[in-house]
Amino acid sequence: MENFHNLFIFCLQFFFLATCSQKDTIEYDQAIRDGDTLVSSNEMYELGFFSPGSSRNRYLGIWYKNISPQTVVWVANRETPITDSSGVFRIDTNGSLRVILSSNNTSIWSSNLGLVYHTTLHSVAQLLNSGNLVLRTSGEESFIWQSFDYPGDTFLPGMKLGKDLVTRLDRRLTSWKSLDDPSPGPYVSFMDTNGFPQLFEEQQDSVPHLRLGPWNGITLNGMPSLGSNPIFTHEFIFDDKEVYYGYTLVNSSGVTRVYLSPEGNMLRLNWIERTQTWFLYWNANIDICSRYGLCGPYGSCNKNNSPPCSCMEGFVPRNPDEWSASKWSSGCRRRTSLGCQNGDGYRVFKNVKMPDTQRSWYNRSMTLGECETACKQNCSCVAYANIDIRMNGIGCLLWFDDLMDIGTVDESQDLYVRMAVSDLTKYPVLVIIPSPN
Ligand SMILES: *[C@@H]1O[C@H](CO)[C@@H](O)[C@H](O)[C@H]1NC(C)=O
Ligand SMILES: *[C@@H]1O[C@H](CO)[C@@H](O)[C@H](O)[C@H]1NC(C)=O
Ligand SMILES: *[C@@H]1O[C@H](CO)[C@@H](O)[C@H](O)[C@H]1NC(C)=O
Ligand SMILES: *[C@@H]1O[C@H](CO)[C@@H](O)[C@H](O)[C@H]1NC(C)=O
Ligand SMILES: *[C@@H]1O[C@H](CO)[C@@H](O)[C@H](O)[C@H]1NC(C)=O
Ligand SMILES: *[C@@H]1O[C@H](CO)[C@@H](O)[C@H](O)[C@H]1NC(C)=O
Repeated sequence: MENFHNLFIFCLQFFFLATCSQKDTIEYDQAIRDGDTLVSSNEMYELGFFSPGSSRNRYLGIWYKNISPQTVVWVANRETPITDSSGVFRIDTNGSLRVILSSNNTSIWSSNLGLVYHTTLHSVAQLLNSGNLVLRTSGEESFIWQSFDYPGDTFLPGMKLGKDLVTRLDRRLTSWKSLDDPSPGPYVSFMDTNGFPQLFEEQQDSVPHLRLGPWNGITLNGMPSLGSNPIFTHEFIFDDKEVYYGYTLVNSSGVTRVYLSPEGNMLRLNWIERTQTWFLYWNANIDICSRYGLCGPYGSCNKNNSPPCSCMEGFVPRNPDEWSASKWSSGCRRRTSLGCQNGDGYRVFKNVKMPDTQRSWYNRSMTLGECETACKQNCSCVAYANIDIRMNGIGCLLWFDDLMDIGTVDESQDLYVRMAVSDLTKYPVLVIIPSPN
């Protein structure tokens, strides 16, 4: 601790001679006191103690070094504010990162979070160019701990929003309570792994507000395409070990972040150097069709229509009075009920935001033909679709419950919905399942 303090003073003395660059690393016997900071070597991110908004509480956090007003991307002691300037950040004797009060050594926050590992005198903590605070054994590449595994309200390039299926680590965003209080607020954004994975935003333990997905090989269903000159590319990784959504900057000097605001808006913001402002690139919650299940089961949402909700063809409002009074949540029912034994058919719907996949079944290598066969063989299968729409489509999704949260999207995404033959005859007939004999 003393060493670093001396070094810090040394730096101050020589600051104007620019002989001392700022540190991005602390070692076992060093500390960051309130007022000191670590700076990533690209000078993009800074770590230290700060007070959010109009609060006077102190928190250990990471922010953009050159952006004003201060924009915080990560907070350590979200729920345990420090009320004075006695906070100290260091590596403790057990090799964890820890924030303590210098006055009485009270522990405020630590990275060990239930993990047990052995004492090491060779631990180093480093603020990487990505804004990731990592703890590792000196000389080793792998991280013992990293702040990217414990996101707050901000999703940065290189982070993973999703789950490690081996360790069960679940990286989700949680809003702040308010701009003055980084403790966890009511909104969360997370990867739901029931059925085929999708991203949800919801109020803690409550109904979804917003659903993005499933991933169709190009984008998450419901997320606008990146356009012709993107500043980032995004990806969806889903294998035996992990499932996550992430994005990467095309030009590493660009600055972009996804932010879950205290009001529950999921925003993508790009920093515009020329105007020194955050530009709102996308507000996931802005259009009416982003509201989960607005049109109820078998209702389809199109933001360009007025009213936005209509029943899918072959379906009629379940409650016509409510429906005509613009209360759509009870949704639609079939014009004619299914009669599996008598044979049903399928009608294709184009440019569809895929229904909620929470109770879906999937196989990522089946063809559309195999998918159709699988749906036909099970009377409770109500719809099928390709998972990946690239290269004429691959993969199979089957739905077994009422189709929820359907909308219109730009991508050529087809959904095949099971219908009674009598309803199909009024419309183009695609497939007739022969009656079993
Ligand atoms: C180190 O771990 C031991 C055993 O779990 C615990 O009693 C001790 O308080 C820890 N030390 C610090 C500085 O956290
Ligand atoms: C805090 O802990 C350090 C190292 O364990 C010890 O030297 C110091 O006396 C303690 N300070 C107080 C106020 O307890
Ligand atoms: C430690 O000191 C802080 C002030 O720096 C005080 O608020 C807190 O109550 C003290 N905790 C204990 C356990 O003495
Ligand atoms: C990245 O952006 C910087 C600043 O806008 C620019 O100077 C640089 O040429 C860009 N690099 C590439 C590879 O586009
Ligand atoms: C998925 O479908 C392929 C092709 O029909 C099949 O070989 C494979 O066993 C299926 N996988 C699962 C998990 O059902
Ligand atoms: C049809 O699918 C449902 C839901 O996956 C399943 O519970 C049921 O066993 C299936 N029935 C047949 C005959 O395969």
